[in-house]
Amino acid sequence: MMFKPLQSRRHFLHAGLFLAGMSAVAVGKTLSDYRSQAVEDLQKRSFEVSGQGSLKKRAAAIGLIYGAATMRPYLADLDFSSSFIRECGILAPENELKWDALRPSPSQFDFRNADWLLGFARRNSMLFRGHTLVWHMQLPQWFKEVVNHQNAEKFLQEHIATVTKRYAGQMHSIDVVNEAIEPADGRRDQLRKTPWLEFLGPDYIEFAFRTAAAYDSKAILVYNELGLEYDTADGDARRNAVLKLLERLKSKGTPIHALGIQSHLVGHSIPFNSDKLRKFLASVASLGLKILITELDVVDQKLALDFAIRDRIVAARYQDYLKVVLRERAVIAVLTWGLSDRYTWHSSYNPRKDLAPVRPLPLSNSLKRKLAWNAMAIAFDQAPKR
Ligand code: G3I
Repeated sequence: MMFKPLQSRRHFLHAGLFLAGMSAVAVGKTLSDYRSQAVEDLQKRSFEVSGQGSLKKRAAAIGLIYGAATMRPYLADLDFSSSFIRECGILAPENELKWDALRPSPSQFDFRNADWLLGFARRNSMLFRGHTLVWHMQLPQWFKEVVNHQNAEKFLQEHIATVTKRYAGQMHSIDVVNEAIEPADGRRDQLRKTPWLEFLGPDYIEFAFRTAAAYDSKAILVYNELGLEYDTADGDARRNAVLKLLERLKSKGTPIHALGIQSHLVGHSIPFNSDKLRKFLASVASLGLKILITELDVVDQKLALDFAIRDRIVAARYQDYLKVVLRERAVIAVLTWGLSDRYTWHSSYNPRKDLAPVRPLPLSNSLKRKLAWNAMAIAFDQAPKR
């Protein structure tokens, strides 16, 4: 399937102006630098893919797992679920394994939706990954009234034990702790000020991993984090803080097996340094950890309205990012956060000012393979075997 390079002058101009407009964050570049380099890049990429093989198949050919996060209501859409079955080799519940979904009350668990998703995955020969046992968001309403310094450890232990025991042996991997780093919170250890930190201190992270390992000896236990992708001061701080956390956990013999890099990329111009990212991935791998790309998508909120331009820029972001991360053989899985523009969190969380539909994912709203799909297929086809 081949997509023609941008032909019309209007497209070039649009692309140059919009890219240049978004390049304000990258200092020192002039308009003409961006216009010529960016449009040149956009124009020359053909995104040509050989064959019709699914992303799942192309990933498997290099020993990689590809899949996506989704939700039970989305899979009731039969056109969508058949696309999901065709393209995905692993399923992650987008929300059904979070505290607010599982815990209607302090003494109850409701696994119906998570169980249904596990059943869907098994019926369709997919792996299943959990997200997430410990997070500071999507805590149930009762949490702040009930959980305190005295009982927090009991609640955390019971939650992790109950969930991991239930799915023991059936989870490829699980995000044990999510987003525990926040340099802006000003702590020396760069930890995010969350209720878990407040009630249990920094050791809550090690405690969570040890508890999960006690009930599921098979699942890959993952620390999942955001904001690790770009060459910014914030990205530097987050990568350094994550490395220090992983080193601390490993030095104590914590049963942690992998780092999850969320990879919510941006379509507009932002400094991206492939060497810096590659070095970070190598440092993580040198700790004996695997790496999963856990929530990949490309927000197009600030890009041109024109689909032909927007899709090409988004596809280029996918291709350039995956080319770097897949050179690291410790990367064992890539999941997009959703599969189709029909169902993406960006629609509500990052809508466009012009209210046009967002286009962050490999399949379009009408479930057609977009340039982003091609970009991922090319990246998988060209990556070294794991
Ligand atoms: O389930 C309720 C439903 O009963 C209610 O009618 C509806 C309207 O209020 O809300 C539903 O809950 C929503 C939930 O998604 C399930 O759809 C919440 O309001 C909404 O806030 C929640 O958003 C999720 C978001 O995390 C919460 O922070 C997104 O779907 C989900 O994609 C997003 O995922 C996170 C990852 O877990 C961690 N990494 C970042 C990523 C994007 O924010």
